[in-house]
Amino acid sequence: MGKKDIDWGNLRFSYMKTDQRYVSNYKDGEWDQGRMTEDANVVMSECAGVLQYSQSCFEGLKAYTTEDGRIITFRPDLNAERMENSAISLQMPVFPKKRFLDAVDQVIAANVAYLPPYGFGATFYLRPYMFGSNPVIGVKPADEYQFRIFGIPVGPYFQGGAKPITVKICDYDRAAPHGTGHIKVGLNYAMSLYTMSLGHEKVYEEKMYLDAATRTKVEESGGANFLFVTKDNLIVTPKSNTILPSITRRSAMYLAKSYLGLETEEREIYVEELEEFEECGLCGTATVIAPVGKIVDHGREICLPSGMEKMGPITKKLYDTLTGIQFGTLEAPQGWIHEIKVK
Ligand code: PLP
Ligand code: COI
Repeated sequence: MGKKDIDWGNLRFSYMKTDQRYVSNYKDGEWDQGRMTEDANVVMSECAGVLQYSQSCFEGLKAYTTEDGRIITFRPDLNAERMENSAISLQMPVFPKKRFLDAVDQVIAANVAYLPPYGFGATFYLRPYMFGSNPVIGVKPADEYQFRIFGIPVGPYFQGGAKPITVKICDYDRAAPHGTGHIKVGLNYAMSLYTMSLGHEKVYEEKMYLDAATRTKVEESGGANFLFVTKDNLIVTPKSNTILPSITRRSAMYLAKSYLGLETEEREIYVEELEEFEECGLCGTATVIAPVGKIVDHGREICLPSGMEKMGPITKKLYDTLTGIQFGTLEAPQGWIHEIKVK
């Protein structure tokens, strides 16, 4: 199949309507068989559960074109499992894992013309999501749901690509103890929009949320987990049950240990120790691993020794290893890569 006329090297992380998307409806206690559709619009009741009480969850994963032209996805099984947890937490029916994985493949196969070719650093981002679709006016779970997946070609999440970013410690909380921080639900993101509108977005590319209970420990950003590198090249990441268990972070920690021979630690990280780190990075599917050069704690600026010009050396090694696996140039651990055969 030919490719669309897209400037692959200058893609941003933004929406584009592609040809086909997957949709399946849940009614009377079961999912229908699902289908691909060209219709990018969702039509539902004005009183749909998602519109009134935000009953929705989602995922994000990417497809990559390898140098030898194969199309692969990275650990899609973990996205299916995480969406299962999100759905259960919001009292939504689970979309079965096998069907989730099959639907991802169908969306990729139907939109091959939008899959960025190898060599541009661009990828095809897939967004599975599910929402309560029937009228709900008393506060309770919906009875009917829709599961959809669309895909879009994307470039870097942050403008400037691999340039270090500035992160600001946020005065508002992202997730409450015993709340929804560990699941991927739209409501977590909706409340983060408020702090985005405080006029800082030009100066600070991202926010660092602290734990809501004590406001002394690092949690995560609005869309990614944090990694830190110590003077002894130990990779440290926050341990918290109110952050999203990032697939990228879990993968990077494994690769640090088993591919790069680095020690890793998941533990509570206090704001007061931020000055002691050599490097910092944000990791997520959209973000990949983005270097952080500066953390702003109100009047105090914490400048990471790795600086504002380029990625720190350990972050770079991690980035190269992770993206090497994702683009198929490095051998992946067993079961991490799934190849999609397109006829
Ligand atoms: N944390 C939040 C709040 C996110 O939205 C994301 C993005 O999915 C991540 C972390 C990173 O998770 P993953 O690496 O699984 O994409
Ligand atoms: C992802 O990385 O897939 C996310 O969902 C994060 C979002 C902020 C784009």
